Amino acid sequence: MRTEPLLDTFGRVATDLRVSLTDRCNLRCSYCMPAEGLDWLPGEEVLTDDEVVRLITIGVERLGVREVRFTGGEPLLRRGLPDIVRRTAALRPRPETSITTNALGLSRTAPALAEAGLDRVNVSLDTVRREDFATITRRDRLHDVVAGLEAATAAGLTPVKVNAVLLRGVNDGQAPELLRWCLERGYALRFIEQMPLDAQHQWSRLEMVTAEEILESLRTEFLLEPAEEPRGSAPAELFAVDGGPHTVGVIASVTRPFCGDCDRVRLTADGQVRNCLFAREESDLRTALRGGADDDEIADRWRVAMLGKRAGHGIDDTSFLQPVRPMSAIGG
Ligand code: 5AD
Ligand code: SF4
Repeated sequence: MRTEPLLDTFGRVATDLRVSLTDRCNLRCSYCMPAEGLDWLPGEEVLTDDEVVRLITIGVERLGVREVRFTGGEPLLRRGLPDIVRRTAALRPRPETSITTNALGLSRTAPALAEAGLDRVNVSLDTVRREDFATITRRDRLHDVVAGLEAATAAGLTPVKVNAVLLRGVNDGQAPELLRWCLERGYALRFIEQMPLDAQHQWSRLEMVTAEEILESLRTEFLLEPAEEPRGSAPAELFAVDGGPHTVGVIASVTRPFCGDCDRVRLTADGQVRNCLFAREESDLRTALRGGADDDEIADRWRVAMLGKRAGHGIDDTSFLQPVRPMSAIGG
């Protein structure tokens, strides 16, 4: 079979596929969704398990995808997740598989997911204080997340990573506390600068807690030294904590964009290819899929979709426009 990579006009090659399995979520993080939720995708527009697996198969076998990350919304809400993971891990060459999850319910499903072939999890957790967790997510579920993290470690879904977003006036003073908590439990913590992807369009560059501020705050309690390993296309800049071996990462998507090294491509739950989180256009694979297109034709459409990928997100340009879909419908 012909394998021709997903190349864009700047010479970047996408090998890391992010697959959103649902736009729904069981939390309501204030920086992501309004309290009442959003208008979810109608069921018939969401790809079936078979359709998702078919697109992933085309990605792996014909387009050089080597890593598949399942996202949402909340991917654990997708009933077919273990089966989708199993069929993905059975592809050759076997892609690395992971999920980005809020970990609600993970305490029950971690063993089955590991058994299905899931390699790793990234858990979103912005605070370890119960009241602040309830404020940020609008749900009093910190205990579920903690149990999910423990189950992930027990199931061998390691290294377990934790992603945190800091919000000014809410949890921006908690970076050292969160790091200490993660270090004690063996979780690899990474802070992510908040990006303009909220459904409410309330993001403000001036309000955003910057990577510089996060590092400054961590340095009040920890010694941080740039970790040896090259950053490559991994967006997190890693720092050894107190001489190592543990590290903390900072993902400065806004203040130090890594677009030049981007190796990602995204597939939404309704079968649209997005060549960038911030893309203003999508390419519809679902219609082709349901219209009877063969694998070669779908692969060609997917390759063409990459040609419009821009050099960078341009968040700092005056002409920047937030994408129409929010993060929860794109996948993190
Ligand atoms: N900016 C940065 N990270 C975000 N997340 C959700 N919305 C944003 C945003 N606007 C994070 C979640 C989770 C991952 C999917 O992305 O906290 O860790
Ligand atoms: Fe890649 Fe787009 Fe993210 Fe830049 S903003 S790193 S181009 S996905």
